Amino acid sequence: MALEEPLDEKWIACFHDSFRLSGVKQGDLVIVLSETASRPSLIHLAELGLARAGARVAQVKLQSARQPAGPAIRSTGNTEAAQDYSDLLAMLGGADLVVDVTVEGILHSPARQALLEAGGRVYMISNEHPEVLERCRPSTALAERVARSMQRLGAAKEMRVISPAGTDLTVDLRGAPVRGGAGFLAPEQPVAYWPAGLALCFPKAGTVRGTVVLDVGDVNLTFKRYIESRVRMTIEDDRVTEVAGDGLDAVSLRSYLASWQDPDAYTVSHVGWGLNPGAYWDSLHLYDKNEVNGTELRAIEGNFLFSTGANEFAGRFTKCHFDFPMRNCDLWIDDMQVLREGALTPAFA
Ligand SMILES: [Fe+2]
Repeated sequence: MALEEPLDEKWIACFHDSFRLSGVKQGDLVIVLSETASRPSLIHLAELGLARAGARVAQVKLQSARQPAGPAIRSTGNTEAAQDYSDLLAMLGGADLVVDVTVEGILHSPARQALLEAGGRVYMISNEHPEVLERCRPSTALAERVARSMQRLGAAKEMRVISPAGTDLTVDLRGAPVRGGAGFLAPEQPVAYWPAGLALCFPKAGTVRGTVVLDVGDVNLTFKRYIESRVRMTIEDDRVTEVAGDGLDAVSLRSYLASWQDPDAYTVSHVGWGLNPGAYWDSLHLYDKNEVNGTELRAIEGNFLFSTGANEFAGRFTKCHFDFPMRNCDLWIDDMQVLREGALTPAFA
């Protein structure tokens, strides 16, 4: 159960700023979508921030879903709570905006599709301590930086990533849909999430090969822990064919992946890099696991973000998802260097 944070004035102001940046205006009808397991402070801060913007606010609270049979699910961006509510979400499409504070969010859920098809828009707020949202707050400057990265990533044919620990990964980028955002809804966007500040793509089938070595200080965001012992993943034809390493990190990763009994759990989901200067590598040390969701570390400027799990653009669907923000990588798209020893090059900064 999430701890309750105080409804600090500075956080109400911060939420208000994000809603205004997302175009919320006087008289808009905005639905705050939550579930019974949602963090209460996020529901209240959303309501208060929206009210300050002059919106007409209503709440819809779903029942959190029963735990399905199988391993615990994390980091999917696909709340089970909305599973049977596509009809309701379609009805909410008539509102000016849905603010999503469900625990996992509806980002990758069929319910989101129903909402969008009904003309709706959704602003998802990650299940984070408000301090994290404040630190990684959106801005138009960040939006320009993200747009530049997305444009170049979308135009590139190949990505290559190497690291001193032994990573050597090649991704054929042709046809890979690019995604990203700065943490607020631009006027033409139907979906945004906060915190953000990253650019990534979903490689098509049969395009990823090489080696990814998670090094000490990299992060496993599904387990919400820093890597303390190297993990070497061999990737052939998009698939992790070996997870090598003697430490707890490799042992636990092998064990959790195997517990899914799902070949698609081993496949590549998305690859990209972080761009948010408000996000910090060491912040995971400073919170209990139930206080944060890890979206800050996905967006750290200069990380290489490697992820396994669902990739609808490659025809793979699984609820086992890992995001691994990695340090100290060199990353190129075609002949343009994006990261040098884990820092953005001037062209991408
Ligand atoms: Fe991910």
